Amino acid sequence: MNILVINGPNLNRLGRRDATHYGVVTLAEIERALRDRASGRGDKVTFFQSNHEGAIVDCIQNSTTSSDCIIINAGALTHYGYSMRDALADARLPIVEVHLSNIHAREEHRRHSVIADLAVGQIAGLGWRGYLYALDFLVSRADEARRRASQ
Ligand code: DQA
Repeated sequence: MNILVINGPNLNRLGRRDATHYGVVTLAEIERALRDRASGRGDKVTFFQSNHEGAIVDCIQNSTTSSDCIIINAGALTHYGYSMRDALADARLPIVEVHLSNIHAREEHRRHSVIADLAVGQIAGLGWRGYLYALDFLVSRADEARRRASQ
């Protein structure tokens, strides 16, 4: 299974950025943990981070046929990124939305996600582990679908 992991603006700063909300683990460490977890099961993870919405749109468009599902932390684009939303809708892939912090317990402008209704579900407030839980969920969901289809 090919899992595309997208991180949006400022998430390249993890580990140096506002540890109270985002913790001390870097994006490289999160990616390593995801790669280790996925490769143990023969799954492949592809990582993309950008501070630019258009680059994220390009990534989604270019990866649709090679990916089975998407894990995305869109950073602040979560709250207003409509072209990213359109690209995700067009991809028609299972999506899990991840946030390190609990966006529902923060400022008003963070409580709304423009991609939440496209996602199978959202993980918010569980820190870096949220990405691993998203991976576990998507892999187990695909396994179950395969099992049922072969019965
Ligand atoms: C975030 C929450 C967003 O509101 C914020 O703009 C981020 C990170 C999170 O992971 O908690 O950049 O997506």
